Amino acid sequence: MSSGNGQAPAVEVSGLVKQFGAVRALDGLSLTIPRGIIYGLLGPNGAGKTTLIRALIGLVRPTSGSVQVMGYNVLTAGAQVRAGSGYMTQSPALYSELSVWENVDFSARIFGLTDGGKRKERISQVLQLVELDQRANTPVSNLSGGMRQRVLLACTLVHQPQLLLLDEPTVGVDPQLRYSFWRYFRTLADSGVTLIVSSHVMDEAERCDRLGLMRAGKLLAEGTAAEIRARAGTANLEDAFLQLSGITPLPASDSGGGDRIQQ
Ligand SMILES: Nc1ncnc2c1ncn2[C@@H]1O[C@H](COP(=O)(O)OP(=O)(O)OP(=O)(O)O)[C@@H](O)[C@H]1O
Ligand SMILES: [Mg+2]
Repeated sequence: MSSGNGQAPAVEVSGLVKQFGAVRALDGLSLTIPRGIIYGLLGPNGAGKTTLIRALIGLVRPTSGSVQVMGYNVLTAGAQVRAGSGYMTQSPALYSELSVWENVDFSARIFGLTDGGKRKERISQVLQLVELDQRANTPVSNLSGGMRQRVLLACTLVHQPQLLLLDEPTVGVDPQLRYSFWRYFRTLADSGVTLIVSSHVMDEAERCDRLGLMRAGKLLAEGTAAEIRARAGTANLEDAFLQLSGITPLPASDSGGGDRIQQ
């Protein structure tokens, strides 16, 4: 899928439904995401963000509706879509007995980086990016939680995918490194890569070019952060999301701590 079919949008989802038994995780969702942007997926626990991300690379089979990625129908061309995509899962999927280097090397081989010299160079690059080059030989079992998250990002980026699906990529990552992740995400988007990032962190949402607010398997609102704030008539995104979810935001004097629980 180096660049996919022509100039089709990165993602075109129409009427997407996913039913898990009695739970309707996606409820007739339609969404178009252009290429080369950072798209933020927001919404409370259980809103359907992970299910949507998994449906985009064919790991969840839709109950109904259509999913096109880079112009490919995911149902019939899932392998092409997955080859050109990087998916960072919400729960770390690493081999804990293998070292940092071996984990990234394993991903690189799976994604067809067969030239040993180039693979080595690329692994070094991504390990520098996530600031783990000094820990390349450490078994993953001996790393901190945030460091594991960084290995996972390195595994996701190693084959230079054109579409990145990042499910809460910065959970447990310290603020300084979080900042450098986001700077790199922007560099990738500027080079034409499309990034879809789920997050619960509002300052990360502000860094996205467009946002989709999900709730109960539907899109409640879609647009730039400024458009969403304007639509809700609120000064910040967090209040906009509460407002659009039908929850009255607390008055400013009561919300000073900023750690109010979003349901
Ligand atoms: N494999 C599965 N089998 C059964 N139910 C599932 C499965 N995967 C997800 N669900 C259900 O689908 C709904 C949406 O889950 P999903 O993981 O997509 O939410 P989310 O928005 O990613 O939440 P979070 O913010 O907690 O990560 C939830 O009710 C969840 O329990
Ligand atoms: Mg999730």
